[in-house]
This record gives sequence, structure tokens and C-alpha cells, in this order.
Amino acid sequence: MPATVIIGAQWGDEGKGKIVDRLAESADLVVRYAGGPNAGHTLVVAGRKVVLRLIPSGALHPHTLCLLGQGMVISPETLLEELDGLAEYGVALGHRMLLSRQAHLILPYHVLVDELREGSEAGTKIGTTKRGIGPCYEDKVGRRGVRVGDLEKPAVLRAKVSEALNNWRPTIQALGGTAPDLEAVCDRILRTADRIVPLLGDVSARLETELAAGKRAMLEGAQGTMLDIDNGTYPFVTSSSAVAGGACTGAGIGPTRIDRVLGITKAYTTRVGAGPFPTELDDDAGHHLRNVGHEFGSVTGRPRRTGWLDLAALRYARRVNGIDGLALTKLDVLSGLDVIKVCVGYRTPDGESLELSPDLADATPVYTSLPGWKEPLRAARAIEELPTAVRRYLEFVETTAELGIDIVSVGPGRDETIELRSGLA
Ligand code: IMP
Repeated sequence: MPATVIIGAQWGDEGKGKIVDRLAESADLVVRYAGGPNAGHTLVVAGRKVVLRLIPSGALHPHTLCLLGQGMVISPETLLEELDGLAEYGVALGHRMLLSRQAHLILPYHVLVDELREGSEAGTKIGTTKRGIGPCYEDKVGRRGVRVGDLEKPAVLRAKVSEALNNWRPTIQALGGTAPDLEAVCDRILRTADRIVPLLGDVSARLETELAAGKRAMLEGAQGTMLDIDNGTYPFVTSSSAVAGGACTGAGIGPTRIDRVLGITKAYTTRVGAGPFPTELDDDAGHHLRNVGHEFGSVTGRPRRTGWLDLAALRYARRVNGIDGLALTKLDVLSGLDVIKVCVGYRTPDGESLELSPDLADATPVYTSLPGWKEPLRAARAIEELPTAVRRYLEFVETTAELGIDIVSVGPGRDETIELRSGLA
């Protein structure tokens, strides 16, 4: 029963979409298990750009079954927009998609609270995507959440929305906002029910059945390890389990069903939003990474913070996810830099350490400098076609992160990839 979990090993935006999309060619099912429309997977297919927020990236392959698990938070309007957008590309998905009844609904007051908090003078600014993710998960763990399955029972939905709204009203008022009207919220959300309800099902049961029948599943993480609610740079994190373990709770399968964990890392690092980022650059190399790598948020358009590859963070990601192999993306972006630095550990007030502490407080990176290269890499399709300096860089990453590289991406297109080993179980 081969099931592979694919996770971001950094702060998100590692290029998971492209890798998942490519590996989905040989998968029968693609599953998303956490997060919501805060994710944005940009795919380039036949030269055209497609951004997916909720739907797993493997959806573009006509044979894959797409499952959206109970660990997710769903904006029904965004989901319908995405389905309609895909239909324009000739991808009809409704008949091969299943959405967990237990996933939670993002409601207008979640988005409102997220926006008000981010705009307020008081409190810690996380720099969220303002999609209502945090407040929605707050309702979930507060046991007053509204689940997607409630769209089947309008009276139940109305009662739950009423309770949640009563809970949020004082917060909204304290933040200077006006709570939305109960009926307006219910009418708006129930308008989507006709199209959402036929997609609902039991994701856990379906996944188990498919795996038992020998089907190959790819469970696709959203965001990245360092944004995980438990293992990331708290409180500058998202509100869900982005690590590989989240695949079990978020899709409803046991850890014994997972055969392989593939970690995705860029050849450098980016981060969107606030929070620690020890290898961050604010110099020509940082501008190079942002401009050549087109590092602007696919959900919010914000310029991403850029920095050198952090191998201590990668070793940490290996540990908390149990990563078996790596896909290294955007290697081509490093072309043109004279020197490439990689962080191998940190200098802390207590001395030098190779290990990462998850909050990254007081961490000063210790770097190794490697020679850069000038050659463009996008035409390379085999490791032998890469310049010596590039191969040295890859070897250094493998040795220091203590992880083998299975896949190297040298450009955004599906074919701009070097496969060293199969990334799938
Ligand atoms: P939220 O998930 O919108 O609550 O945002 C919390 C933090 O996670 C912020 O720093 C966001 O920038 C970051 N974040 C959320 N989703 C993504 C993503 O898909 N890529 C990168 N950063 C993300």
C-alpha cells in the first residue's frame, strides 16, 4: 500500500506544487490534509500558469482521484472558483473529487477577525494571509466550529453559526469592527450548498479502501515545517499541522500506512510574513534571489523575504518529519552568484551548535561558502549535464543534511527536472 507524504521542509513555497504535479503522473490519488486557501501552488502547464489554493496539485492529471481531508479548512466560494477556473482549462474535477464532511468551513467572520487583527495596533503581527485560517482553527479547537458536512443540514448550520458569532462579537467590536448579520452569513454560505454537498464524503474510509486495493497515494502537505503549529517558529506559524504527521490526522489514516516522506526544499530559503529567519539577506544576493526566483507571494503578492539555504533547519525538518529523501527546487535561480553560502549551524549565546532550536531565538548562522557558477541550468536533464560547481553544491547539501536528493528542479516547467531516484514509495 504505497503512500508517500510530500512536505515542505522550510517556510512554505518550496515548489511543492510542481513536484507533486510531476509525481502525480504515477499516482492514483492525491490528498490534501491541512491548511486552506492560505496555500497557493503555482503550476506551469503547457506554458500556462495555474494557481491552486485548496485543490491538490495532482488534480491536473485526468486519472487522479483528489481527496480534501478533514484537517483542512475550506472556503466553499474559493473552492467553487477554483473548480470553475480548472473547467476553463478543460479539467472537469467534480466526479473525481471527495471533500471530507469533517473539514471546517471558513466563514466571513473568520476572515474579518484575521483582517482586523492584522490591521490593529495591538497584539503580535504574524503577517498572515488574511484568509481567516487562524480564527477558523480557533473555532475548531474551541469545539464550536462549523463543518463542511453541516451544509447538508441548514438548521444545524444556522444554530452553530449563531453560537460562533456570539462568541466572536465582543472580539470584533473590541477590534473596531462590526459583526456580520447571522442571516446574511447563513444565506451566503448556504448558496454554495447545491454544488458543495455532492462533493462530500468520507475521505478516511475512501483512502483506506483505495490503499487496500494497491493504489498509490500522494499526501500533499501545505505550508512548510517551520510554519507548523507545534514544530514551527511559534507563534509565527500557521494554525495547522504542516508536518508529515499531520497527514495521518488530517486524512484519517494511521502512521503505519505511510511508506515514504519526501521533503521539498528550495536551493535557498524564503519566508513570507513575520518571524525569525536567521539566514535572511538584505543585499545584492537577496535581491538576486527575489528577482530571479520571482519570489512574490502567490496568495497575497507580497515580496518574500529571501536568504541562504539553512541546512541546520533542513536537518531539523528531517527529524520532525522523518524525511527519507529530498526534492531540491529552483537550483537554476542560483546561477550568476559568485559565492553561495549555506548555513551549517548556529552560534548561540552558549557557544556553537549544529542543531536548530525551533524558536530560532538568538541564532546567528555559521556559514560555509561554496563557489558559485555562471551557467544557466534550465536545459539540463541529467546530473552529468550540470557544471562541476553545481554538483559540488548538491553533494555538500546531501552530506551536511544527511539526506539523499531524489529530484532536482531546474525551472518551472514540468520537464525542467532531473530525476535521480523515484520520489515515490
Ligand atoms: P496564515 O496561515 O494565513 O494564518 O498565516 C500564518 C503565517 O504562515 C504567515 O507568516 C503566512 O505568511 C504564512 N503562510 C501561510 N500559508 C503560507 C504558504 O502557503 N506559503 C508561505 N507562507 C505561508
